Amino acid sequence: MFDRSVLADHQSDFLSRFWQKKPLLIRNAFPGGLDYVSGDELAGLASQEGIESRLVIEHGPKAWETRHGPFEEDVWGSLPTQKWSILVQAVDRLLPEVSLLRDRFRFLPNWRVDDIMISYAVDQGGVGPHTDNYDVFLIQGQGRRRWEIGDRALVNPELEPGLDMKILKHFEAAESFVLEPGDMLYLPPGFAHNGVAQGESVTYSVGFRAPHQKEMLQSFVQFCSQFDEGEIFYTDQTLPETREPGLILPGELQRLRELMLAGLQDEKLFMRWIGGFLTEPRSFHEARDKKVSEKTLRAGLKKGRAVQRAEGARLAFYTVGEKLHFAAEGECFVLDPSLTELVALLCREQSYRAEDLLAHSEKLGFAELLCHLWNQSYVRWSDEE
Ligand code: SIN
Ligand code: CO
Repeated sequence: MFDRSVLADHQSDFLSRFWQKKPLLIRNAFPGGLDYVSGDELAGLASQEGIESRLVIEHGPKAWETRHGPFEEDVWGSLPTQKWSILVQAVDRLLPEVSLLRDRFRFLPNWRVDDIMISYAVDQGGVGPHTDNYDVFLIQGQGRRRWEIGDRALVNPELEPGLDMKILKHFEAAESFVLEPGDMLYLPPGFAHNGVAQGESVTYSVGFRAPHQKEMLQSFVQFCSQFDEGEIFYTDQTLPETREPGLILPGELQRLRELMLAGLQDEKLFMRWIGGFLTEPRSFHEARDKKVSEKTLRAGLKKGRAVQRAEGARLAFYTVGEKLHFAAEGECFVLDPSLTELVALLCREQSYRAEDLLAHSEKLGFAELLCHLWNQSYVRWSDEE
C-alpha cells in the first residue's frame, strides 16, 4: 500500500531536529494521497451513536458555530455551499485501512499516539486559527488545503471571546503553503495554524497525547482509592507545650505534605496504574458475549489461523525489575517475563501469523493472555468478520 516512508528514511533527523521542536512540511509523503473515506462516508460515520464528531460552520447562526454528533440526515442539506467542515475522531478505531496508517508512525511510541481524526471540508472550510496542545501530523488525503502557520509555540494565547471554539484573537502567519494530496505537515504543540480548504478537502490528523499533571494526579488518586488496605493516617510528633492554637506549625505542614508525597511515590501502585492510564481508549471495544476456550484458541492457531488486533486497540508494555507489565485498552496485567517477546510483538504489529504466536505457546500464561485479549475483543481471527 505504501511504497516509501519519508519519515522512516529520515527518522533520526526528524526526531532530533523537529519532533516537539519545529514544524516540518513533507511533500509527497503518501504518494497519491489517501482515499479511505469520502465526505459522504464521513457524514455517515458522524451520524452514528458512539462516534465522536463535530460540525463547524464559520458563518452559522453564530460565528464558528460548533455542533456535536450524532447528526440527523437532514443536517447536510441545510448547510451553506462554503466554509464548513465535519471532523470525525478516532477513525483508526473504525476503519482497518486507517488503523494501518499508524504503522507509518511506529518510530514514535504507541502510548503517545492518540487517534487519527479525519475531516472533510467544503471550499474555504476549516476550523479557524488555533493552537493544539499536542503534536500532530496533518496529511492531505484528497483535495487541496492552504495552511498558514506561526513561527513559535504560543503559551496561553488570547482567544476570541464568546465562541464555541478556541479561535485565536491574533494570528500572524509566518509561513503558508498549499498541501496537495499526500503532502504532510508536522506541527509541534502550541504552533498556531489555520487550514483553509481550496475546494473540497479531506485531511487526516494523526494526533498525539501528552498526559498533563492534573489529569494524572486525578486518575492516580482515583485508582489508589479502590484499595482500602494500608490507609496511613497522619500522626503527631511530640507536640510543643505552648502554642497559638490556631496556628499550624511549619513542621506540621511539612509532615502533611510528606504524607501526600509518600502516597504519590508508592512505586508499586504507580506501576500498577500507569499502563492502564496510558492505554485508556477514547471509546471502548465491546467485550464478546461468547468466550473462547484455550483449547479452541490453540486449535485455531495450529490450523494456521492468523490473529489480528482490533482497529486502534491501544497496547503497551514495560518492565520493572523482573516484572513484565502489559497494558491493553486501559487494563494493566503483570505477566511472566518469558512473555516479553510475545507482548512486544502484540504491541508492534497489527496482525500476527499463527506460527509467530505459537512460538511462544509453551510459555507460562500464554493461552490465558490470548484468551483474555480475545474475550475482550482486543484481538480476533483475521479470517473472521
Ligand atoms: C482539520 O482537519 O480541519 C483541523 C485539523 C487541525 O487544525 O488540527
Ligand atoms: Co489543529
